Parts: sequence; C-alpha cells; structure tokens
Amino acid sequence: MSTQREFEFTFAHFDALRKQAHNYSGINFTDDKLEMFYARLAKRLRKLGITSFSEYVKRVKQDQAEFSEFVNAVTTNITAFEREPHHFAHLKEQMKTFKKSTVNIWSAGCSTGQEPYTILVNILPFCRQKRIEVKVLASDLDTDVLSKAQAGIYKVKDVEMYGQAVKKQFFRKGIGPKEGFCMVKPVLSECIEFRQLNLFYPWKLDRKFDFIFCRNVLIYFEQKKKLEIIDRFASNLVPNGILFLGHSELIPRDDPRWKNIGTNMYQLTGAG
Ligand SMILES: C[S@@+](CC[C@H](N)C(=O)[O-])C[C@H]1O[C@@H](n2cnc3c(N)ncnc32)[C@H](O)[C@@H]1O
Repeated sequence: MSTQREFEFTFAHFDALRKQAHNYSGINFTDDKLEMFYARLAKRLRKLGITSFSEYVKRVKQDQAEFSEFVNAVTTNITAFEREPHHFAHLKEQMKTFKKSTVNIWSAGCSTGQEPYTILVNILPFCRQKRIEVKVLASDLDTDVLSKAQAGIYKVKDVEMYGQAVKKQFFRKGIGPKEGFCMVKPVLSECIEFRQLNLFYPWKLDRKFDFIFCRNVLIYFEQKKKLEIIDRFASNLVPNGILFLGHSELIPRDDPRWKNIGTNMYQLTGAG
C-alpha cells in the first residue's frame, strides 16, 4: 500500500505520531485515522522539505513549533453556524428569565468560531435591550482555528440561514477581491475573549460560567477522561448553570448532580 505513496508511511510511523498527539490532546485516534494522518502530514513534510516520516517523527519530538503545527493538522475542526440549533433556542429562552447584569458563556472547543458567534447572534439583541452584558470565552487547543475564529471571516453562504436584517446587523459583506466572504462586525467580536486552552489537562479560569458549550469535542476522548472533564465543567459552572454537549455525548443518568433538561443539555443541580 505504501509503495504508491510519495513518502513511506508505516503503521509504526502512524502509531508513534498518534501517541504523541494523544499524550498532548487526549484525542483517541483509532486505526482508521491512518490515511487521514498521511494526507494531512504529507503536506507538512513537503513544506518542511523533509523526505521521510522517520525524520518527521523525530522533528515533531524535538521542535515545539512543529509539534504545534502537527497537532493543528490532525485535529478535526468541522463546525457550522447554527449547528444543533435547539441549543441556541434553549439559550434564548433561558435569557428571558436571566436576572444578573452579566452573562458568562464558555464555548470550549470553539474551532473556527461559528459556535461563539452563533451564541451571540442569538442572544445579543435581547441582552442589549435588557442591558445584560454578554461575555464569551472561546477556547480551543488548535491555534490555527483560533486565529481563524479571531479573524471572523466566513463565506457568505455559511451565514445564508440568517435573514437580511441579521446579516446586516452582524456581518460586513466583502467587496472586490473579498466578494463571496463576510466578516463579523466588532459588535460581536468585542464580546469574545479567544484563548488557547487544552481540555485534556486541568485548567485554571478566573470566573464561573452560566452556560458552557462543549459540543462535538468530548467525542474524541476516552470515557474516563470525558467524565473527568465533565466534572471539571461542574466546578466552572454557577449553581443551576447549563452544559450543552454534542449530539452523541451523554452524561450517565445515575449522576445526581446533572439534570437532563433536553437533548444533550444538562443543568447542574447541586445534588450529589
Ligand atoms: C469538531 S470541532 C467542534 C466545534 C464546535 N464545538 C461545534 O460543535 O461545532 C472539535 C474541536 O475540539 C478541539 N479540541 C480537540 N481536542 C481538544 C482539547 N484537548 N482541548 C481543547 N480543544 C480540543 C479541536 O481542535 C476542534 O476545533
């Protein structure tokens, strides 16, 4: 199989690389990810002028900057505006009875930013009317996606689900060479703090959140680690705070601290 490839890529190369990525990120790369590793990392070899994967394995071990590029290359960053929209509808409902002057929200594993911007598009008009300040922490492990999130530039067709008024309020349409793209307006980006944060290891945050979105991230971790991270989210939430998980991520029913309040939505009860 490897004879048709530009670079020889053995299972041992794959295994050495996936172990390094796992030790850092917690992502559990199954055997079927071998082709994905090859496709994404062959580009790195070409860029660096490296001629073998044996050399690349060593490089990743020794060179911190390349290690970061390597991790960025193998993470899966699929996301979209209004992904799993019932969560944003629920958040909007929650805001109607919100009593504090600031709402703190964390988008953990925000990828290229569509999730935190969607949160804001949904609640900012109401919050401004009610004079509720909105603070969003948007974090990810991958520094490339964080840069894209911060730049806030998307294809116009990515936001086509929004009506003209919403698009006009929150996005600036590109012209000339930027035609077909749009950029989020400062009214959205100024509510967000972007930060690199690795969920695999304990983190320190200086505030508690009313809502945490961690969707389609825990799916890549082993069960024990998932539960450990969910425990840590519990200590980052205010009493009765809500955790939104991805469509295939569940909290075991027998955990009394969490009340299932809808599809992949859990409220911290204080019990247990
Ligand atoms: C599939 S995307 C999900 C994006 C968004 N939450 C959504 O549901 O549309 C998963 C994101 O989790 C990030 N991720 C993976 N492992 C991580 C870790 N250990 N710490 C923080 N983020 C991580 C990836 O870089 C990626 O951007």
